Amino acid sequence: MPSASERLAWTADLVAPRAGERVLEVGCGHGVLVALLAERAGEVLAVDRSPTMVAAATRRNRAAVDAGRVRLHAAALRDADLGTEPFDVVVSFNVRAFWDADEEATWDVVARVLAPGGRVLVAFSVMTPGAEGPVVEAVGRLAGARGLVLSAVHPGPTAPIVSAAVEVRRPPGG
Ligand SMILES: C[S@@+](CC[C@H](N)C(=O)[O-])C[C@H]1O[C@@H](n2cnc3c(N)ncnc32)[C@H](O)[C@@H]1O
Repeated sequence: MPSASERLAWTADLVAPRAGERVLEVGCGHGVLVALLAERAGEVLAVDRSPTMVAAATRRNRAAVDAGRVRLHAAALRDADLGTEPFDVVVSFNVRAFWDADEEATWDVVARVLAPGGRVLVAFSVMTPGAEGPVVEAVGRLAGARGLVLSAVHPGPTAPIVSAAVEVRRPPGG
């Protein structure tokens, strides 16, 4: 029987944070991906606009929060205090703000906080065959307008629903 978080385990493997890297997760929900990333990354900051979700994510990640390896903020990305240090990785799963044309502020923030050479993984469940096409197009356009480069589209053979992730990078000198 597949784990309920198979898609999030796949995403964590895709992110593959290296020790010492700073990771920002947007729309962390219950904090399952936060926990998987915190096992490997130097520091994880997660934001979710739902205080209920952040409370649940905080409970799940209590030890890492207490150790200072995980921080969680209840705020929409555009309003969140992300500090001044850049992030090596930005990741999200099933957060429409990354491809919704009415949420352009999402990419303004990502472009501001992503380190040179940094990567963004916009992951999502592919509910119907071909549904990833418009997401890939929108992410490429919104990120590209801010000097970021679409570098890969990863198919995720997850169960019970397949996943996909669009990878975007900031060129090392960018
Ligand atoms: C469909 S849920 C996905 C939760 C989790 N990533 C997962 O895959 O299980 C989307 C989450 O993103 C949050 N969210 C949506 N737009 C957001 C934004 N602009 N800034 C921060 N959180 C956002 C919602 O509150 C919700 O918890």
